[in-house]
Amino acid sequence: QDDKFKKVISHAKEYGYVFQSSEIYDGLSAVYDYAQNGVELKKNIRDYWWRAMVQMHDNIVGLDASIFMHPTTWKASGHVDAFNDPLIDNKDSKKRYRADVLIEDYCAKIENKIDKEVAKAAKRFGEAFDKAEFVSTNPRVVGYQEKIDSILQRMGKSLEKEDLADVKALIEELEIADPLTGSKNWTEVKQFNLMFGTKLGASAEHAMDLYLRPETAQGIFVNFLNVQKSGRMKIPFGIAQTGKAFRNEIVARQFIFRMREFEQMEMQFFIKPGTQKTWFEYWKDARMKWHKSLGLGEENYRFHDHEKLAHYADAATDIEFKFPFGFKELEGIHSRTDFDLKQHEEFSGKKLQYFDHEENTSYTPYVLETSIGLDRMFLAVFSNALQEEELENNTTRTVLKLPAVLAPFKAAVLPLVKKDGLPEVAQQIVDELKWDFNIAYDEKDAVGRRYRRQDANGTPLCITVDHDTLNDNSVTIRYRDTMEQKRVKIEDLRDIIKQEVDV
Ligand code: GAP
Repeated sequence: QDDKFKKVISHAKEYGYVFQSSEIYDGLSAVYDYAQNGVELKKNIRDYWWRAMVQMHDNIVGLDASIFMHPTTWKASGHVDAFNDPLIDNKDSKKRYRADVLIEDYCAKIENKIDKEVAKAAKRFGEAFDKAEFVSTNPRVVGYQEKIDSILQRMGKSLEKEDLADVKALIEELEIADPLTGSKNWTEVKQFNLMFGTKLGASAEHAMDLYLRPETAQGIFVNFLNVQKSGRMKIPFGIAQTGKAFRNEIVARQFIFRMREFEQMEMQFFIKPGTQKTWFEYWKDARMKWHKSLGLGEENYRFHDHEKLAHYADAATDIEFKFPFGFKELEGIHSRTDFDLKQHEEFSGKKLQYFDHEENTSYTPYVLETSIGLDRMFLAVFSNALQEEELENNTTRTVLKLPAVLAPFKAAVLPLVKKDGLPEVAQQIVDELKWDFNIAYDEKDAVGRRYRRQDANGTPLCITVDHDTLNDNSVTIRYRDTMEQKRVKIEDLRDIIKQEVDV
């Protein structure tokens, strides 16, 4: 698995998808740049989300709020007081860790033991093996599971009560060691706020302390009434937004999975109090369908309902995806009640209520939120697409099977040779198609190598211009996934590509 993840990272670099930020200065940890192909893939994912959320819903509109917000926003939202990670230092290695992650990693090791027991039993019982039955009755597995549950429950309770001494006690009782050095010499656990601070204003004495937003959601809450009134929106309605967010993450070692500067795609859906359960189910279903529509494999998704809820939520679930390092959160769906709007009413002194004309009453709406990290979605799509394929003639090819709708280039046009007027014809085809699609042109190296290059780059179609093209106005079209080739008319190319990228 580690190997696969390394391949993903090096492929992303080699093919111009993702670079480490400021690489010539040895990089900046957990900050990344999107290169020529990455920026296209990222844009296509964003557009795919926007289309599903805004274009396809009459009652959802867009917004682009600022990254800087009035500092009171973050007092009202609870981020100043509660947006913390519990940290612990190892006295010998001087390394800093998230205490909750150390404990979760410990539990993951027990989970591995369960997986091993299951694999062993599956081998022993063959076709008759019933995994669910085995997991719920095998005494050793049941014991492991109970241990995990009790550890996580105790940690959850201690963190909720801010009982940090107990979190440290738990680490000591479990004899958790520094993963790098094996030392068990720990400091106290301390809370660390994840927001980045900055200053607004020219002179030191008049400067105002600001934060870089740690989520895009608050830009939507503070604009709720402006949008509702100017757009004459009727409840239920939603506001969608994509944009940068910043968190001073401590555990930052998983490429673009956990970044310090990242992009979110969030939608806040304003509803009548009391209807939150229905809308929670609606959005769970709608968001899962969106993910599955991309064809990355239904078995790679699962819901993880939260037992421990954030301070603002009355129900929450994650859509988890099977990344190269296991199932992890990709998107959160939260029933946020009226917490945010009420807090902003209190801190701003302004009413943020909705007047329901039909019922002739005013109320503070409840909010259902869907929140997905664009970079995390990028990693899900990219890592799932990267495949090494064994071919019939005992060779292998590296192919990036990106969904065509998301691929940076929809087709590459290749003149078979660099003479006899073929490049000119190929260029003409590019010039016509580029009005509708992002099209690559490649004339370097033998055509077989160019096919491989486009495979590795994720281009779903290659269009080859050869000498026959000059007589019959036909080209060879080659499909990335099947490597099937067929002869088609140049005039049909637009429709063929459109069919391929249509969703
Ligand atoms: N407004 C709710 C909110 O921000 P969250 O669970 O903290 O909720 C939502 O974040 C999503 O944002 C996550 O599911 C994840 O996809 C993405 N995300 C959060 N922190 C991230 C980070 N450091 N790097 C990349 N993506 C992140």
